[in-house]
Amino acid sequence: MADPLIQLEITVWGNNSVEQPASRVAIYPGTFDPITYGHLDVIARARRFTDLLIVAVLRNEHKHPLFSVAERTEMLRESVAGFPNVEVDSFEGLLVEFAVVRQASLIIRGIRAISDYENEWQMAHMNRRLRPDVETIFVMASEAHSFVSSRLVKEVWKLGGNISGLVPPPVLSRLERLGGQFASKGPY
Ligand code: PNS
Repeated sequence: MADPLIQLEITVWGNNSVEQPASRVAIYPGTFDPITYGHLDVIARARRFTDLLIVAVLRNEHKHPLFSVAERTEMLRESVAGFPNVEVDSFEGLLVEFAVVRQASLIIRGIRAISDYENEWQMAHMNRRLRPDVETIFVMASEAHSFVSSRLVKEVWKLGGNISGLVPPPVLSRLERLGGQFASKGPY
């Protein structure tokens, strides 16, 4: 009869479980179109329990992003410049395959309201099915940032609302440069 601990490991990670590397490498994937203070909040928290946190931009132009992958990675790099163990990269294809290539054993996802949960639940289980040895960890941004999303920031910016305090300076300056006609005019 197999050792109960080994049996549990097989149940949890499957038969082809790989030995976890000594250093904890995590991937924080997303569209980041653009990065917000909500994302930055998650990065600041996740980097405290990882040795290397790789913020990974999905290369998927089908989503018709406002910013190109190059622009998004540049804004991310500028925004995380003060975090020594955070790196920015991009990927296409399956997230778990990218995680394996980068020798990451963790996927970080930020979770805001309950409305995020269903989609995140599905993705986490699908990723676990594909690679049982890659674990998803959910991180909650602070209350102050829990309502911020890239989609809402873009909407408010397009309509001329004030987005300062919602996105880091590299994003704010680009949006201001980009949208002369949309730049914030009032207290809203
Ligand atoms: O910021 P987003 O748009 O919520 O990020 C979604 C992302 C990039 C994490 C997700 O779309 C993704 O992982 N795409 C890669 C394709 C993949 O691996 N799909 C199968 C697992 S659900």
